[in-house]
Amino acid sequence: MEINPLTKPGACHRTGVEVSGVKLSQPMGAEDKARLNRVFVEHGVLVIRDQKLAPREMLEAVKIFGSVFQQHNTRFALPDCPQIHYLSNQDRFPDGRRYVPGEGWHTDHSNDSRPPKATALHAVALPERGGDTQFANMAAAYEALPQQTKRRIAGLVAIHVYQSSHSARKLMALPQAGMERVPNAVLHPITRTHPESGKKSIYINPIRIEGILGLDHREALPLLDELLEHATAERFQYRHVWRPGDLVIWDNRCLLHKANGDYDMSETRYLYRVMLQGDVPC
Ligand code: SIN
Repeated sequence: MEINPLTKPGACHRTGVEVSGVKLSQPMGAEDKARLNRVFVEHGVLVIRDQKLAPREMLEAVKIFGSVFQQHNTRFALPDCPQIHYLSNQDRFPDGRRYVPGEGWHTDHSNDSRPPKATALHAVALPERGGDTQFANMAAAYEALPQQTKRRIAGLVAIHVYQSSHSARKLMALPQAGMERVPNAVLHPITRTHPESGKKSIYINPIRIEGILGLDHREALPLLDELLEHATAERFQYRHVWRPGDLVIWDNRCLLHKANGDYDMSETRYLYRVMLQGDVPC
């Protein structure tokens, strides 16, 4: 197994490594599993090249990193392997508009009381060019905040819902069946400490945050905008250019991510997605 960093020398963070020489469809030894988990916590994004995994093989493979999280919107579940969902640019909203999943900065399923620690995507079909996924390192962004802002946000708690009324990006509605599994609203701190690395991160989500507990929207929304603008500056980013066969797994506890719908929509972008159970953010 070979592991190489993907961030440029001199960057203020070390997000992303490329892993080659592994076959995730085959059993892996305990030492390699432990190494991958260490590297995952250290770098936040693993890009495991040259895989060709059927849904059940992907499900087995990601268990190297934890147990499977039940994704909320069951309309995207694969019929034969419902713990795996798909992402596709060929779906449409009921009014006919195209639905491009994952556009806009976010962290996955933060409206859950124990949001997923990780998300893994496996590329099945990719456009000729474009459709990159960007990641922003929230620990590096927190570290770079002025002391005054760190003091201002310490102890603030955000209200997360399935779909924030302030979000420009609209999600596909939840199907009626299974809706009771999805909480109406949960509270999470705006900064959180990574349970494994001990590093502090900004924890915000423009798609899901409805407000900040005890703050008027006139104060809360500009503060959230200011944090988002700071945290997603290019210097905190790793941008993933997909290759056929990539399996990418990232740490939702300390990263924001977004998909780019910047490619020819007559081409199909289709990926399998699975999430892994996380802890209560604190
Ligand atoms: C997502 O937000 O989970 C999707 C990211 C992507 O499609 O690149």
